[in-house]
Amino acid sequence: LLTASPVQLGEKYFKMYPDEGNPLWGNPCYDARHLKIWFPKPCDQLPHFLIIGPQKTGTTALYTFLSIHPNITSNYPNADTFEEIQFFSGNNYYRGLEWYMSFFPSLHNGTFQYLFEKSATYFEGELVPRRARALLPHAKLVTILTSPTNRAYSWYQHARAHGNQMALDYSFHQVVTANDTAPKPLRELRNRCLHPGKYSQHLERWLLYFPAQQIYVIDGDQLKSNPVKTMVDLQHFLNITPSLNYSSQLRFNPKKGFFCQVMETNQTKCLGRSKGRKYSAMEERTLKFLQRYYLSHNTALMKLLKRITFWSFPSWLREELAESA
Ligand code: A3P
Repeated sequence: LLTASPVQLGEKYFKMYPDEGNPLWGNPCYDARHLKIWFPKPCDQLPHFLIIGPQKTGTTALYTFLSIHPNITSNYPNADTFEEIQFFSGNNYYRGLEWYMSFFPSLHNGTFQYLFEKSATYFEGELVPRRARALLPHAKLVTILTSPTNRAYSWYQHARAHGNQMALDYSFHQVVTANDTAPKPLRELRNRCLHPGKYSQHLERWLLYFPAQQIYVIDGDQLKSNPVKTMVDLQHFLNITPSLNYSSQLRFNPKKGFFCQVMETNQTKCLGRSKGRKYSAMEERTLKFLQRYYLSHNTALMKLLKRITFWSFPSWLREELAESA
């Protein structure tokens, strides 16, 4: 009996079934046969909930506030992307399950901790909901929604601060109104400003893979103005016990213009300079352009929120729809 070498067989197999070249990591702990092969890997080294973004909506503030809770633990930092692992959204996915798990402490024999990770790029990633569902079908998902117009402007300011040449050379108005004949890097920046803010489109994709009951929508404006209430409601949704009273943990810092963490010395520790930047107000014409641009997306979001009545209806959405009417 003659057979090809394992490598040749593998090559032949993936030629016949090219789709299977793309892995989809499932959870070995849900299958006794897989668990047997995998033993003694711990089954508790995976997150209970994910903060999925989108970027520039206050995800770092939420991550920081959650980490104050003595029973909530985030992932270890990633050398390339700091606090974000960005596993489900990019090439890190191909590093495999054990790579992902190495970012979480094993809870074996320790006190129970609610594990979570925050990767703000998950929200709009095409493949992310399917991948997240395959590995973490019971995980809860948390998203923050702010005005997509302000989110786009915040991303543009972020790009400028990071020396993005397009953001330095072109005004925000020029970026968001760039058409499809514009240079590629300009179109890329435009897309990164505009695309994540199509909230209903992205949420509908998540809903293909997760029941609405597992997803929590935070009003980003409330996170800024009343984070104590946001944290009470969020802990309730996540079933975190004991619930931490954040009123003694967070205090408004007038100089920063945001709520910051109260330290043991009674001084506040705010997020770094890259969070809560100071920049000029958006031009009126750009505001009008973006309100028109997002009208259909915001209307679809409103319909979605009327369908899923237990998701909170953010105040900015009402205002934005009224202004663009
Ligand atoms: P700006 O810097 O444009 O004001 P992310 O962490 O997802 O990148 O979001 C950054 C945004 O979080 C900031 O955008 C800021 O508006 C918002 N934010 C919400 N609460 C904050 C807080 N307590 N401290 C700093 N920024 C906060």
